[in-house]
Amino acid sequence: IREGTQVEERTFVYLKPNTIQRQLVGEVIRRFERRGLKIVGMKMLWMSKEQAVELYKEHIGKDFYEPLIKFVTSGPVVAMVLEGPHAIELVRHTIGNTDPLKASGGTIRGDYAISVRKNIVHASDSLESATREISLFFKAEELFDYPLLLEEHF
Ligand code: TYD
Ligand code: MG
Repeated sequence: IREGTQVEERTFVYLKPNTIQRQLVGEVIRRFERRGLKIVGMKMLWMSKEQAVELYKEHIGKDFYEPLIKFVTSGPVVAMVLEGPHAIELVRHTIGNTDPLKASGGTIRGDYAISVRKNIVHASDSLESATREISLFFKAEELFDYPLLLEEHF
């Protein structure tokens, strides 16, 4: 019913340091691929303090802010840009509530997280934040246009 109104969007996602350390990278990316989302950019990086501060500037001054910045800069992360119809909202639903205690089973956080801070994965929460966050971590030439293969072309 919504096919006619679907809008292609791009959203910024990164797998947090504990996800890499817990060897859950494949598990998490698999769920995005199974959902039908297309990976248009992906890299491993170690976030600088400056990048983390910029990414989380809306949270400056909150009680969880300092430990959050320390955590997300404590090891390498895997950053990606995912594309698909309503990708921003779709990815937020796929990852689940920020607080793993409130995240439903079947969501990434609901299935793999026990701590709010170490909640496995980040995803942009709006069109503005997606645009801002993508440009913080990816150059235009690091994002790729390519077709997804349909099964008959495997
Ligand atoms: P927020 O933007 O509210 O959540 P989301 O990642 O779902 O967009 O918060 C950013 C991160 O800050 C969150 O993923 C984990 C951390 N955080 C805490 O450690 N404690 C908290 O109480 C909140 C709200 C967030
Ligand atoms: Mg957020």
